[in-house]
Amino acid sequence: MLREMAEVTVWPEPETPPPYQVVARAARESDGLLCLLTDRIDADLMNAATRLRVVSNCAVGYDNIDVAAATARRIMVCNTPGVLTETTADLAWALIMSVARRIVESDRYLRAGRWKSWSPQLMLGQDIHGATLGIIGMGRIGQALARRAKGFGMQVVYADPTRKPEAEQSVGAQHVGLHDLLRRADFVSVHIPLTQETRHLIGAAELALMKPTAVLVNTARGPAVDEAALAEALREKRIFAAGLDVFETEPLTRESPLLGLENVVLLPHIGSASVATRTLMARMAAENLVAGLSGRRPPYLVNEEVLAS
Ligand code: DGY
Repeated sequence: MLREMAEVTVWPEPETPPPYQVVARAARESDGLLCLLTDRIDADLMNAATRLRVVSNCAVGYDNIDVAAATARRIMVCNTPGVLTETTADLAWALIMSVARRIVESDRYLRAGRWKSWSPQLMLGQDIHGATLGIIGMGRIGQALARRAKGFGMQVVYADPTRKPEAEQSVGAQHVGLHDLLRRADFVSVHIPLTQETRHLIGAAELALMKPTAVLVNTARGPAVDEAALAEALREKRIFAAGLDVFETEPLTRESPLLGLENVVLLPHIGSASVATRTLMARMAAENLVAGLSGRRPPYLVNEEVLAS
């Protein structure tokens, strides 16, 4: 799609992001960028990129882009909402199930040749059916998770600055404050964008409110949770377990204390990683870029203000 309307340069190594200076140089020579959440698109980069008109992120989250700086330079910023909702909720659900029933830990145990006999106390986990699910951030993905919870007969409570009457009606979700949610939920799942306000939203004080049997799942952005505080809570078994698809630093460093803990499942940021969904995201990111470069309004424009005259 892009080659039909523009001269295109593609970074050739899918598993190694281009260094910042490489992206900055490419931006200086381009009218549009199609970038990933691993590319930092900051004010310095955009200041020097005088031709740049569109930055199309192949992700729904866009905390890697300084949107205010882009808007100030009338650069359009685009993202890929909607298409990854169900796939990401599937992965959050997979983490809830793996962590609650110790699936990954059990697999490691068996493969290590440690399974001697059926035993009444072997790998005891937590029930999911009938439990209370706490959803932090009842946007598209939070609501998709709530629908899954309904099939498991769970009670759903949610914390969100905005009440969501549709979710309250369709799954009987109850709007509560964050602290109330943390005290009540057996499973806490994080679905908020990363902003200054949400950085370390879940820290030591918040973890201390959770039940010792509770599970924390994060498929949103790593910095929403204070990872050092979480590792401490897991090590001291102040909560039962966690399932993480995102981290404060990605890729997770070999020194991370999380790697030494049995009661956490760690995934390499694969929330939207199904063949169909990644194909749709790529198409949407290209459509946004083509529209912006052709003088049309991109279908998923983050900073509408750039179009105001
Ligand atoms: C996103 O889109 O923001 C995810 O983190 C990757 O799919």
